[in-house]
Amino acid sequence: MKYHTLLSLIVALLDFMSPGLTRLNPRVSFPMGSPGRHLTCFSNHDVSNTTVLLLSEDGNMLYVGARDAVLALNVSQDDIILKTKLKWSPPNKDLEQCSMKGKKMTDCPNFIRVLQFLNNSHIYACGTFAFSPRCTYIESKTFTMSLKYDEGRGRCPYDPYQRNTAIIIDGELYTGTVADYRGNRPVISRHLSEGKHVDLKLDDTLGWLEDPTFISSSFIPEEEKIYFFFSEVGREYDFIDRFIVSRVSQICVNDVGGQRTLQRRWTTFVKAQLLCQTDNELPYNVIQDIDILPPAEGATSDDTLFYGIFTSQWSINSGRSAVCSFRLTDIKTVFSSNYKVLNRDTLKWSVRVQEKVANPGQCGLHNASDNTLRFVKESFLADDIVRPVGRRLTLVSTEHNYSHLTVQRVQAANSRHYTILFLLSDSGYLHKAVLLQSGVHIIEEVQVFEQPQPIKTLKLSIPKATIYIGTSEGVVKFSTANCSFYWTCAQCVLARDPFCGWDPSSRACVWVSKNNTTLCQDIDKGNVEEACNSLSVSHRTRFGPNKLPAASCPAGELLSVSLNEVVRLSCPASSQLSQQLWERPNSRLSANLYLHLQDGSLSFVATPATLGHYICLSTENGYQQTMAIYHIKQKTTPLAETPTTYTWPQIHPIQTTQAVVRAGSGLHASSGTWPKRTESKLGNSKPTLTIKGTKVTTGQLGRNLTLWKEESEQKEAEFQDGEHVKVARGHCYLKELIVVSVLLLLCLSLLIILLMYVIRQRLHSRTVPQTGTPSDRRTSLEWEALRGNTSSIKSNGKPLHRRGFDCNGTLIGSNGNLGNAQSKHPEHMNAIDETRDKGCHSR
Ligand SMILES: *[C@@H]1O[C@H](CO)[C@@H](O)[C@H](O)[C@H]1NC(C)=O
Ligand SMILES: *[C@@H]1O[C@H](CO)[C@@H](O)[C@H](O)[C@H]1NC(C)=O
Ligand SMILES: *[C@@H]1O[C@H](CO)[C@@H](O)[C@H](O)[C@H]1NC(C)=O
Ligand SMILES: *[C@@H]1O[C@H](CO)[C@@H](O)[C@H](O)[C@H]1NC(C)=O
Repeated sequence: MKYHTLLSLIVALLDFMSPGLTRLNPRVSFPMGSPGRHLTCFSNHDVSNTTVLLLSEDGNMLYVGARDAVLALNVSQDDIILKTKLKWSPPNKDLEQCSMKGKKMTDCPNFIRVLQFLNNSHIYACGTFAFSPRCTYIESKTFTMSLKYDEGRGRCPYDPYQRNTAIIIDGELYTGTVADYRGNRPVISRHLSEGKHVDLKLDDTLGWLEDPTFISSSFIPEEEKIYFFFSEVGREYDFIDRFIVSRVSQICVNDVGGQRTLQRRWTTFVKAQLLCQTDNELPYNVIQDIDILPPAEGATSDDTLFYGIFTSQWSINSGRSAVCSFRLTDIKTVFSSNYKVLNRDTLKWSVRVQEKVANPGQCGLHNASDNTLRFVKESFLADDIVRPVGRRLTLVSTEHNYSHLTVQRVQAANSRHYTILFLLSDSGYLHKAVLLQSGVHIIEEVQVFEQPQPIKTLKLSIPKATIYIGTSEGVVKFSTANCSFYWTCAQCVLARDPFCGWDPSSRACVWVSKNNTTLCQDIDKGNVEEACNSLSVSHRTRFGPNKLPAASCPAGELLSVSLNEVVRLSCPASSQLSQQLWERPNSRLSANLYLHLQDGSLSFVATPATLGHYICLSTENGYQQTMAIYHIKQKTTPLAETPTTYTWPQIHPIQTTQAVVRAGSGLHASSGTWPKRTESKLGNSKPTLTIKGTKVTTGQLGRNLTLWKEESEQKEAEFQDGEHVKVARGHCYLKELIVVSVLLLLCLSLLIILLMYVIRQRLHSRTVPQTGTPSDRRTSLEWEALRGNTSSIKSNGKPLHRRGFDCNGTLIGSNGNLGNAQSKHPEHMNAIDETRDKGCHSR
């Protein structure tokens, strides 16, 4: 136990010394229900605990192993259609026995744990079957279960919480699982062998497996070997109490066991440690999942890579996970060098010093001499450690506990290949990351479940470009990319998604295909200027010599405020990696007057000095774009004041509905609903234009901006017509009666305010020394109010006041003003246009 304290000390020290880990932020986040990332869900009231997924070769059928059921789902269309459901549950007698033996009733059903194609006509399935595992044959065409059962011992765990792995090669089943009821006889074995091939298993030799957790198995045809991945207790590190190590082990598929020694036992089993660690950090020693990346076209099988997720057994690293990749050739090198030997008296491992009699792990040792086999039997733990590619971690996440991954190599528009990792986190998000020379870039995250799921499975269909995720609740599928979500060339390039490129001719972000090589894309650097400036000349001429695509340049917004009012201007973020910056033409934003809020919005008190133009710029990866333009002017009609504005320092976030939407509920917030809006021309027989409530989420910005633009353009057009336009929005019940009551209220509140003003003046003169300019008259209390305002806005995701939308007649007045301002002082709009142009072209 002394070691333990010492170890924790070392651990703490190491952690202290560990280099600063860069935060990995997904560029875009799609919470559940976002329109930008559509999920197709399959759930059925009696389908739960989806434990295994099996895809047909053409990717049209998905077979699902769940609790007491095997399902055949047709996934060839957009929807998931249940084709057949096979019920496979233990009879009541078995269930009773299971619970009589002291097992929980909820653990006694048949949890399917093995689902593999056996041959062209059959699927092989095994389940825990009330702690008495069973296997069966399912005919794939008719999806009927045979009446023939195999005993599942050694093929499937008894306990549904124990992990296992299984793979069928040439009609033979290779498994890693525990082979007894109590769960302490782990075994790697072969079943369903015929003829000269006999069923094989591990010898009960000391130390072959030490309390393992099986993760995965992969067949490499060129090697004729199956590689198993698992974690177990590393007995070679006997100075640490229960030190977990991750392992890779191998067996040859042509193994038939020895003739006398190692009869019906593997003669080719060897194992080695997989180490996911950088030089000065604690190892991420517990493997969670691993996936194989076959070699690129033209490369040999030695270049096969294995990408694994690893976590640490020490609490100091809890919540963190790392990804490491291992090359097959490195694994082979370790297996072909020295082995350790176990001293059976002291139970200590040491490096073998005596001469090598044979090469352990070599295929075809079955009719070797007894002497050789005895040597092989003792030498199964490689002395060397398999280290990750480049001796470094592929990525480390301090915030996300990744549990599952799948990997794909994607050819980008420049015909280079990029590795994409899909990482499923415990919190229910799937991260899509591209591995670059400069590091890892997380393109997006998609929320796939809300409640923590005890069981998760992840499957990638490369031909269908689809991800499947099975959980306790059902199956979810979605495509590996949604290029059309990126609405400008800049967004498409900044995404750095190898699946997506900007097509200048169709002016859309499209799926990269082999025959479309003219796409704008820059995966490595994400350089918008370079990638998008190569846009066709025709596009430039179409939009004038210096103009950027319209969507990247928002229209200005005119806001009328009263003096001393707290103004809050919101600015949408173009992505979670962008930074927002506020600018005023010919003036600096001094920190005394302006408060930059966390969500990128700007807050200040309206004074003569703070009226004017504001531009919000968003910078990402060196590319700057204008996100919002405001013109703040003083209100002209005192009547437009609502009673509430008088209770100074009352908070008045200036946010039109559009602004709320554009603030986009941040890029992380849950999807909100766009309030129903009605735009009508009063006193006009023209039909009413209604914009129905649309769900708004992450980065729907572009679309909203477009909508907003359309709307403001329409308004301008209306003004130009010289018509007297009144715009009423929100849930409006505008009646003369209300106007009268409002006026009454106004009078009343004027009275109250007068009273309050007098009281306040008295109090104020006692506590705070009066200062000159109104803008300097802000007290810490007001700043508190400002800050409080932010938090309250954040807390419910909706603005407290939506000025201009209350049904108190204010709006009509202020919009009337807007109309007046435009018609009487056209220079105002010109000014806005100027700023708009400046904002767009100067960058
Ligand atoms: C892709 O994004 C666009 C734009 O947000 C959306 O309309 C569309 O439904 C999305 N498609 C999918 C399959 O998620
Ligand atoms: C099956 O799913 C339920 C509900 O999510 C969960 O509580 C239970 O632990 C799961 N059973 C197993 C064996 O994982
Ligand atoms: C597949 O295996 C099953 C079960 O062993 C057997 O009945 C069937 O004939 C095999 N089918 C083919 C095409 O070999
Ligand atoms: C194995 O034994 C068989 C005969 O039993 C023999 O024909 C064969 O050559 C032997 N193979 C090796 C690799 O020694």
